[in-house]
Amino acid sequence: MSATAQSTPHTCDGCLDRREVLVRAGLVTMGVAAAGVLAACGGSDTPTDAAPAASDGTLAQLSDIPVGGAISAQLSDGQPIILVQPEKGTVVALTAVCTHQQCTVAPDGAELKCPCHGSVYDLTGANVSGPAPSPLAQFDVHISNGAVVNGKA
Ligand code: FES
Repeated sequence: MSATAQSTPHTCDGCLDRREVLVRAGLVTMGVAAAGVLAACGGSDTPTDAAPAASDGTLAQLSDIPVGGAISAQLSDGQPIILVQPEKGTVVALTAVCTHQQCTVAPDGAELKCPCHGSVYDLTGANVSGPAPSPLAQFDVHISNGAVVNGKA
């Protein structure tokens, strides 16, 4: 199955997104706990600024995903996704579109959080708390030459 969610995530005009805040704060390394810095957009959405996937389907380099953590990325059509590496060499790909009202969910340590109404998912995409009615959808990826590639091998 490929990620084909067609809903458009909310945007937050004039707000800094999470990565921009981290870059400005000099804390761009994934996994840095900077919760106090991450409130730049209040209760609004935090769209990902991850680069869209390459035309060959490459979504990210495996080495860019922390083991036991996750990163934001995009499909080639701009759909926001989350790539999780639950254990070394294993990647789980999730849509980053919140199942509540379609805001963009982002990694926050060992959780995935929606900035709009506070839904929290675990790294498998399962609901932990908040109003989201269902888990984040998973889709198939495979690893090729150290890259995470969209679709089955
Ligand atoms: S849109 Fe994610 S919690 Fe409401």
